[in-house]
Amino acid sequence: MDLDNVKLSIVGLGYVGYPLFKLFSKQFDCIGIDNNIKVIQRFQENESEQGAFCNSLYTTDYVDIANCNIHIVTVPTPIDRFNNPDITMLKDVCVNLATSMKPGCIIIFESTVAPGTTDEICIPLLEQYSGLKINADFHVGYSPERVNVGDIHHNTANTSKIISASSDYALNVMYILYSAIIDAPIIKATSIKVAEAAKMYENVQRDVLIALANEYSNYCHSEGIDIKEVTACAATKWNFSNALPGLVGGHCIGVDPYYVIDRAQQNGLNLPLIRTAREVNEQSVIKSAYRFIHRVNNNLGNTKSLSLLVLGFSYKQDIGDIRNTKIAKFIELVTPEFSQVNCFDPLVDKQAAKQEYDIDVLTSLDELKPSYNVTIKMHNHTCFAALSVNSEQFYSLDQFL
Ligand SMILES: NC(=O)c1ccc[n+]([C@@H]2O[C@H](COP(=O)([O-])OP(=O)(O)OC[C@H]3O[C@@H](n4cnc5c(N)ncnc54)[C@H](O)[C@@H]3O)[C@@H](O)[C@H]2O)c1
Repeated sequence: MDLDNVKLSIVGLGYVGYPLFKLFSKQFDCIGIDNNIKVIQRFQENESEQGAFCNSLYTTDYVDIANCNIHIVTVPTPIDRFNNPDITMLKDVCVNLATSMKPGCIIIFESTVAPGTTDEICIPLLEQYSGLKINADFHVGYSPERVNVGDIHHNTANTSKIISASSDYALNVMYILYSAIIDAPIIKATSIKVAEAAKMYENVQRDVLIALANEYSNYCHSEGIDIKEVTACAATKWNFSNALPGLVGGHCIGVDPYYVIDRAQQNGLNLPLIRTAREVNEQSVIKSAYRFIHRVNNNLGNTKSLSLLVLGFSYKQDIGDIRNTKIAKFIELVTPEFSQVNCFDPLVDKQAAKQEYDIDVLTSLDELKPSYNVTIKMHNHTCFAALSVNSEQFYSLDQFL
């Protein structure tokens, strides 16, 4: 494929897809597609104001991307309420692409999936609904997205990229394509399954390291010493892997291990370490809520007559993403213990918080009470630095992790 003829579609314009769309749009003919009309309208409105892109580059209709010769898929791969992988959206995209794609195209999946998903689920669906044959009529690639939400240092353009494909032809096109937007090594995996497993391993490792930090923190509490100082000392050794205790929320670290656990189970394999890490991390919010209540009780007497302000609701610092935020659980646990609990986070969408968690997050300073008995800061959002709250006692979450 000649790069001059590349016509690209990005399917799913969320945290991953939209930055990718912006990068690719600088170099290639690019159409962004999302099945949520509000997402499309938001980009159209913003960008027509800024004059950045032409409105017709966004669509909700798969017919509009039929002439694209490369499709990059970045739709969510969440878990359901029983922690089982839910790849409904990915399957839906495969069916929609199959009915609109043209022979000769390459479909690249960037969504995080269990090893084997692209070969065993996506390719068969594409073949079934298109009537086309893999590697004869169309090709497939897999290249995991590795950027963290809110990371100002590591972005798509400066992060090394793993690529894999169903054919050498597709692998070579992907190499040239990603080289055009990425200023970091492009690594060719020998199979799609290896690339899928590598992405999973990155996130599983992070989850296990945080679980270890959470557990070691329990031990440090029992010794009356500070895990942060212990970690800082230990981290002076060259091969120490640095991780601090935390509530593991969000769409990746707290979700992806369940995909591996599920897949391994299908292979007849139990993964006790990965399972335990998940359990330890899921418990950390309960542990910290109870430690916090206990501390306030000790310091101020019965919490039941006290008002509490929780600063921060998103799942991590300096972003508005509330997916799988453990602060919702923290609020649920502490609410019965106080006379009033407010949560303030100007970065989040308060309607989304209400809809998803039935929690009224305050986003404007005018909504705060003149004073609170107790304030706890869950994150160091940059915008909190200039915040002045009238409160008898101040705490931060990391004291209780
Ligand atoms: N957010 C991250 O930092 C990050 C990092 C690495 C990997 N990932 C992975 O990337 C994938 C996407 O994550 P995200 O955070 O960008 O999700 P997101 O929810 O922010 O965005 C996904 C978009 O896809 C759209 N969509 C859903 N179904 C669709 C369909 N059938 N057709 C068209 N559009 C559809 C949604 O409306 C949404 O706008 C996931 O697999 C995730 O695990 C995310």
